[in-house]
Order: sequence, then structure tokens, then C-alpha cells
Amino acid sequence: MRLGRRLMWSGVLGGALYWLARYLRPKHSTLVLNDKVVVITGASSGIGRALAFAFARRAARVVLVARNVEHLEAVRREIEPYTSDVLVVPADITQEDQLQAVVTQTLDAFGRIDVLVNNAGALLGGRLQDQDAGRIEQLIRLNLWAPIRLTQLVVPHMLAENAGYILNIGSGLGRTAAPLLTIYTASKYGLLGFSNALRRELDGTGIYLTLVLPTWTHTDMLPGDVEDTLEKYGYRLEHPDAVAERALLALVHGDNEVIIGGPMIKLGVWLERFVPFVMRIYWRFVVTPEWTAAMNKLGPQ
Ligand SMILES: NC(=O)c1ccc[n+]([C@@H]2O[C@H](COP(=O)([O-])OP(=O)(O)OC[C@H]3O[C@@H](n4cnc5c(N)ncnc54)[C@H](OP(=O)(O)O)[C@@H]3O)[C@@H](O)[C@H]2O)c1
Repeated sequence: MRLGRRLMWSGVLGGALYWLARYLRPKHSTLVLNDKVVVITGASSGIGRALAFAFARRAARVVLVARNVEHLEAVRREIEPYTSDVLVVPADITQEDQLQAVVTQTLDAFGRIDVLVNNAGALLGGRLQDQDAGRIEQLIRLNLWAPIRLTQLVVPHMLAENAGYILNIGSGLGRTAAPLLTIYTASKYGLLGFSNALRRELDGTGIYLTLVLPTWTHTDMLPGDVEDTLEKYGYRLEHPDAVAERALLALVHGDNEVIIGGPMIKLGVWLERFVPFVMRIYWRFVVTPEWTAAMNKLGPQ
């Protein structure tokens, strides 16, 4: 009996000490961004543009990837005061040949890729039965296939250096399932699974992976009237600069995952995980005709 108690208390004490050590232990990352070569997809607007600024301000060499070359050039002009090494690579990352060109052009220019930021993405809202098959495929290709394939192309170069950082921009909807955003939710849950599995696969290789889960953010992805509806329903919109700074901090600290959003978002993620029926009731109240009309407006711009 006494032995049993001793064993129990040793277990509790051991567990507490382990937790304390994990809590106090300096993070594993020693990332210094100065001169690092950073490839950012979706760098022409929103969170990607803000990330380009954040990396440039830390004197990284930045590769800007998106389809709209004028927008990319505008970002280049904006960040050039901070870093002289900016490469613009116009590419549709849903196309295999253009993805390969992103990697080869970066290696030709800089000889290495230190940080890959899989940020480009789009939204698709509305009821599943109303979605066009082609748009579903395109969204999955952009939000899930492209980050997987680009990472696959980049990882061998990182392995050759025994070092590298992957920053995946997921979404809070990769941890809480939203009706009327089923395809988007599926793509972001997929990115979460990919990120968690790959992190384990790369364990010990010197390559780190951070997954960022932002909440609703004020970018071109959201039409103004949809933002009004979101705010009416209690959501606080983040600023893309704040998201980018928090994401960068998580990367530098070597965090596995960071949820960006206020207490309502964090509570939602917790409830989804431990008491999902509460979220089911929540969504029953939220899906009103007004909410449905707002979600129907969400699609690639
Ligand atoms: N805004 C939010 O509320 C929110 C919330 C959570 C997570 N996120 C995530 O954050 C990421 C960035 O979103 P954002 O809000 O910054 O949206 P955004 O302002 O609309 O930016 C999307 C970016 O992706 C690029 N892009 C779209 N299709 C592309 C393609 N086929 N090939 C290459 N680039 C492409 C766009 O550039 P081009 O049009 O020039 O190609 C643009 O630079 C996404 O992954 C999104 O899911 C956003």
C-alpha cells in the first residue's frame, strides 16, 4: 500500500518536473534571419505581403511568388529599402511546371532555400451542393496540393544543408469545422495533418516546421460587407501585419503551432476538441440567412 502511494507520488512529481523542464527549456530554434533566403507564396497581398515586410525588415533575402506581377513588383519596391536581395517570381502555384520554376529560379539566384513560406490560399463559401466541381478542385490544388508539392521540391535542398524552416499558413478553420466553408475547412484540416506528419518525419534532420492558424484577417480575401457580418457576429478581425509578426515570432522560437486570434477563437478550438457538441449548437445559431448570404460571397477573387 505504502509502496503504491510512493510510486504514485513519484509519478506525479516526475510528471510535474518533466512539464516544468519542457516549459522552461529554451526553444530548439536558433534561427537568425539575416541573409536567409525566404520563399513566400502569395506574397502579392494580405498576409503574404505582410510576411514579406516582416522578413525583409530582418534583412532576409526574399523571393516573392504570386500570379500578379504588377502587385509583386509593387511589394518589391516597398520592401527594397530594408533588403536589397528581392527576387520576383510570377507563378501560378497550382501548375507543376511553374512550381518547379519557383525552385529553380530561386536556386539560380541565391543557391539555397532556407525558409519556405506556404501562404498562398483562397476561400470558397456556400453549401456543398452548390459548388462547382472545377472550383473545388482548384481550391484543393491551391490550398493543399501546392504546399505539399512545393515542400516536396524544397525539402531535398534543405536536407542537403541539414537545416531549413517551413512556415505553413493554415487557418483556425483547420482546427474548427465551419459549415458553408466545407471545402476550405477540408483543405486547412488537410494542411494541418500534412504539417504534423511531416514534422515528425523530419524530426532530427535540422528542418523545423511551424504551422500558423490565423483567425479572420482584414485582407483582400474578405469582401467589406462580409467583414461587417463577421464583426456583427462577434469576430474580431486581425491586421495582416500582426499575423505576420506573430507568425515570424513562432518560427524563430521554433514553435510547432500557433493559433492567432482572441479568446473567442481559442475557446472555439478548445470546445471543438473536447466538447464538439457545443460547437454544433453554436453553428446552429450562427447559420442564419444573413450568415449564409455572406458565406455565398466568398470565393477566389
Ligand atoms: N484573411 C483571412 O481571414 C485568413 C484567415 C485565416 C487564414 N488565412 C490564410 O492566409 C493565407 C493568405 O491569405 P490572405 O488573407 O492574405 O489572402 P489574399 O490577400 O487574398 O492573398 C492571397 C495570395 O495568394 C496568391 N494566390 C492566389 N492564387 C494563387 C495561385 N494560383 N498561384 C500563386 N499565388 C496565388 C494571391 O496572389 P495572386 O492573385 O497575385 O496570385 C495573393 O498573393 C491563405 O492561405 C489563407 O487561407 C487567411
